[in-house]
Amino acid sequence: MVAAREILLPGQMVFQEGEMGDCAYVIERGQVEISALRAGHKIVLARLGPGQIFGEMALIDQEMRSATVTVLNEAHLIVVSREQLRKRIDSADTVVQLLMKTLITRFRSSQAGLIGALDDPDVTELAGEEDTHPSEGLNRAFLDFKHEHEIEEAIDKGEFIPVFQPIVDLGTGRTAGFETLVRWRHPTRGYVSPMEFVELAEASGSIRAIDLLVLRAAWEQLEKVRAAHGLSDGEDGPFLSSNISGHHFSDTEIVREIRELLDGAGIHPKRMHLEITESVLIHDPEMALDILEQLKDLGVSIALDDFGTGYSSLSYLHRYPIDHLKIDRSFVARSTDSLRSLEIVRTIMSLAHTMRMNVVGEGVETDAHRDILVSMGCEYGQGYFFGKPLPVEDMAERLRQEAGTHAAVIQPALG
Ligand code: CMP
Ligand code: MG
Repeated sequence: MVAAREILLPGQMVFQEGEMGDCAYVIERGQVEISALRAGHKIVLARLGPGQIFGEMALIDQEMRSATVTVLNEAHLIVVSREQLRKRIDSADTVVQLLMKTLITRFRSSQAGLIGALDDPDVTELAGEEDTHPSEGLNRAFLDFKHEHEIEEAIDKGEFIPVFQPIVDLGTGRTAGFETLVRWRHPTRGYVSPMEFVELAEASGSIRAIDLLVLRAAWEQLEKVRAAHGLSDGEDGPFLSSNISGHHFSDTEIVREIRELLDGAGIHPKRMHLEITESVLIHDPEMALDILEQLKDLGVSIALDDFGTGYSSLSYLHRYPIDHLKIDRSFVARSTDSLRSLEIVRTIMSLAHTMRMNVVGEGVETDAHRDILVSMGCEYGQGYFFGKPLPVEDMAERLRQEAGTHAAVIQPALG
């Protein structure tokens, strides 16, 4: 709906205290007076001028107008409809909604109470009754607080652990590396799926801590296994591809963390792949570029995750130092029965190769999926066909077995 405008003359009333309201107003020109009647006296609460908003409270809490608004100087008002505001309020974070409602309730009751106190000895009566039926939205917000707290505790107790999903070199069929994924090993609920906590950890920001501790633990574990099986620690050694949330792209802390990890563990930086999503590049393009370039200076590789599902605006791709494109699983999954998906996969592949990026096909579940990717010259594949996310013991076993077959193949040649 296009915002309507109203022009009102001095003395005209916009609305009266106690009415129900279905719109708010932004003052473009002129001045209005906000007043309330208490014990028969008019009390002027405020005078508002250009750029200020009024009438928003009734829209937010769906209660009556808290005050009367009259025009002082010819006022040009932009009318904001309930729907315009509603959409934004409904899409806001539930905690923000809770805080907003709490603030308005407090404001209404203190306004009613304090002003009444001037002339009315029975003021306490004016304070609203306690709302004993919080809405479903509010209950959810309280639950979110509780779960956020549990996540923080789990971080402290070390309950977030890495699992390792194989990424296979499609040329040789061998495991080239692993994507590190997070699992919550909950003391009573068992393994909690990331679907149940990542969104909340994103909203509260604790995803930063989770990303980093999974990254550190994964490298520590892989390096033990790698050394035990005598695998290369040079750039051809097994890599780890780790998800880095957009939260890390608001400052350069992540650069410091990665540098420390590389130095401390003596990891060849090429073996460290950091997965980001397109949203990181869209949100604050300049900041993202700055941080990615600092990471590249450390020598690590950058992978663009879930490619094809986000904005996929090709115009930005060449601006960023991206080494690997991960084609989203949905395209790979449909490539065997939808010509369109097949062509999307082909197009992404040739685009990536033109830009000298490697491609990882995600969601490879059948040999047909694999064959399609191989026929297009795709470098890497990932998915249940090659292996589920593995706990560290199974990851170690997989590398051990492959090292064994590898040794068997190359030893005669050496001997
Ligand atoms: P609403 O309750 O919808 O209608 C009256 C409006 O007056 C209210 O929203 C606020 O926008 C505004 N209002 C109420 N009290 C004050 C105050 N103390 N100062 C400034 N504006 C107020
Ligand atoms: Mg990923």
